[in-house]
Amino acid sequence: MKIAVIGSNMVDLISYINKMPVAGETVEAPNFSIGCGGKGANQAVAAAKYGADVLMMTKVGDDIFADNTIKNFDKLGIDTKYVEKVKGLSSGVAPIFVDESGQNRIIIVKGANKYLLPSDIDRASEELKKSSLIILQLEINLETVYYAINFGKKYNIPVLLNPAPATKDLDIEEACKCEFFVPNETELAILTDMPVNTDDEIKNAAKYLVNKGLKNVIVTMGSRGAMWVTKENCQYLKSFKVNAVDTSGAGDAFIGCFASCYVKNNDVMLSMKEASAFAALSVTKKGTQISYPTKDQVKEFLSKYNKE
Ligand code: RIB
Repeated sequence: MKIAVIGSNMVDLISYINKMPVAGETVEAPNFSIGCGGKGANQAVAAAKYGADVLMMTKVGDDIFADNTIKNFDKLGIDTKYVEKVKGLSSGVAPIFVDESGQNRIIIVKGANKYLLPSDIDRASEELKKSSLIILQLEINLETVYYAINFGKKYNIPVLLNPAPATKDLDIEEACKCEFFVPNETELAILTDMPVNTDDEIKNAAKYLVNKGLKNVIVTMGSRGAMWVTKENCQYLKSFKVNAVDTSGAGDAFIGCFASCYVKNNDVMLSMKEASAFAALSVTKKGTQISYPTKDQVKEFLSKYNKE
């Protein structure tokens, strides 16, 4: 049961702030940390930490960050055969600002991630054909994303697309070839131009996408939970109540854990529940990948929670 993540990696430069500066203003951030991130890499790490066999396809730069990113994947047992360095380019970096409520604002500089191309998928095709699920996000070129979706379709491999960061350029017809489409509510609003302030509004926006042909839309809604919408059904999962200190990478935590469970049990709701617990634990710690729990910690959390 191999999961292939075809996507980005970034170096997260996280400043913990009390207040966002306005134009022309300088503010002091009390804390800073640097860590491995990027939506693709985060999802790969979450899936691997939850026990999946993961292959990561991504591009790093030719700089001081590259070896550390590769070492980090290796340490977690992720297959890095298709993690390649691009000469003369920087690695992807992501300045992140986390406020006192744990909410984040993220800027990404794609760097080498822009050079993950359809030809890379062709070169890895024999290996990719062995996967049970392909995970994609939008921090690489759309052309590569569509190529990967069609690769999945051709070889009958389900694809999970996380449309993040959201862009109106996304071709929904291509996205309809995916098994799962997993936006957060902000991305859902951008993609549909619809309001997403209440659960009903989120349901309507997700239904709008389903009516366009998307099969399974799973909306991650942070502390409000998650919603699974299909043509026939809408199921809502409440979130686990925890004390959030940093929500960066929580959506990726959910997706990686969801994928790891789903390839084993084929049960969407059960996988969403475990993913929700995994993501809940991640927000109780600072950082992105570094905040992800182990499978044992999630099981212990779930068993305590079920008793309460
Ligand atoms: O989803 C969180 C991630 O978004 C961060 O790790 C950052 O690198 C950006 O890609």
